[in-house]
Amino acid sequence: MEQNAICYVNGAFVRAAQAKISIFDRAFLFADGVYEVAAVLDGKLVDVDAHLARYERSLAALQMQPALTRAALVAVMREIVARNALDEGLVYIQQTRGAPLERDFPFPADAVQPTLVLFAHKKPVIGAVAAAKGVAVKSVADRRWARRDIKSVSLLAQVLAKQEARAAGCAEAFLVEDGFVTEGAASTAFIVTRTGQIVTRALSHAILPGCTRIAVMRLAEEAGLSVVERAFSIEEAQGAAECFITSATTFVTPVVMLDGRPIGSGAPGPVAQRLRALYIETARQTAQ
Ligand code: PDD
Repeated sequence: MEQNAICYVNGAFVRAAQAKISIFDRAFLFADGVYEVAAVLDGKLVDVDAHLARYERSLAALQMQPALTRAALVAVMREIVARNALDEGLVYIQQTRGAPLERDFPFPADAVQPTLVLFAHKKPVIGAVAAAKGVAVKSVADRRWARRDIKSVSLLAQVLAKQEARAAGCAEAFLVEDGFVTEGAASTAFIVTRTGQIVTRALSHAILPGCTRIAVMRLAEEAGLSVVERAFSIEEAQGAAECFITSATTFVTPVVMLDGRPIGSGAPGPVAQRLRALYIETARQTAQ
């Protein structure tokens, strides 16, 4: 991030180099916080209602109150987009249980102001090279906690999985538990079977309910494609016609290699490319 990028910290807009929070922040001490990431296209927020609904669900699951009302938060997101002249990229929201001056595991007994931080990341999302060429993925054991449906800042297992993937020359890790893929380290995992069915894991505490996942499943169904929610293994994905990931940061990105084995033709497949085009078109139309 540029030093001059403008961030929001607890009510103030400040330059990135000056943006600071307490060493006692509970996110620093305990990973006691939640976050959201929404894409920006043409200076507008993509799927913002879904992201903010999930943000509120994550907060509620951890018994936290939103630091701002939804309308006020959207206003801050727009202000961040405007102040950074962000045409295409990402906006991050990070809220923590605040910074009481005592390190104690249970929630603070006295009311503490939550910490709320927003920042933007300028990045090509539509023209990303990975989308045109497809990405390689590595399987990694899913070592996360039991409530992956909460978008918490406790991301150490994902950090290690992503690093293991990167060291193997891969852009993403598929997390595997009990022989099945749960999801990507920072994305939802899909395959397209040889009979043309789109398969992704059903929602549960085992995965994050992806906002892009909902939108892409709807678009697939509207396009007459059949979508099945069930678990699949690495072997099934390697033998599938296609594989792809979805997220706010990658939209729909084809996976062309899994653990060193090419998937399908080894090039981005027609279903993933079609869904990516449909998603971008809809995101452009509905971004707010
Ligand atoms: N990650 N699963 C996990 C574990 C994720 O971290 C993400 C998103 C997704 C996809 O969710 P969505 O479609 O709502 O972005 C699924 C974000 C982008 C991140 O942490 O950077």
